Amino acid sequence: MKKTLITLSVVAMTATSTFAVEMASCIGCHEANFEKAALGKSKIVKDMAKADIITALKGYKDGSYGGAMKGVMKGQTDKLSDVVIEAIATQITAK
Ligand code: HEC
Repeated sequence: MKKTLITLSVVAMTATSTFAVEMASCIGCHEANFEKAALGKSKIVKDMAKADIITALKGYKDGSYGGAMKGVMKGQTDKLSDVVIEAIATQITAK
């Protein structure tokens, strides 16, 4: 049990540092607080619910979500794990 907890916290720490780096790459299109429509096309992500952000990011990754420019986001989400996606959604909606 103790070992499981330690493993979980290591995973959480790794995810936290990874998502900080990943989120830096989002800023160019979505702005620092996700307050801008990326390339004039996306929704204002900071106004989205956390669950909707998760659905969108996982959907871009597996091809089940998106509009005309979803190809742009497919490239962004391909490398993100589900844990990192949830951490990003938490971070965006915490502001
Ligand atoms: C090269 C520009 C670019 C980068 C970098 C980028 N995005 Fe996007 N993002 C877009 C565009 C364009 C859309 C709208 C795509 C579509 O047509 O569905 C979008 C859509 C989204 C949506 C869904 C909003 C909607 O309209 O449904 C979320 C959530 C999102 N991005 C989060 C992120 C996150 C998190 C990152 C960083 C890991 C990121 N984006 C990086 C351009 C970008």
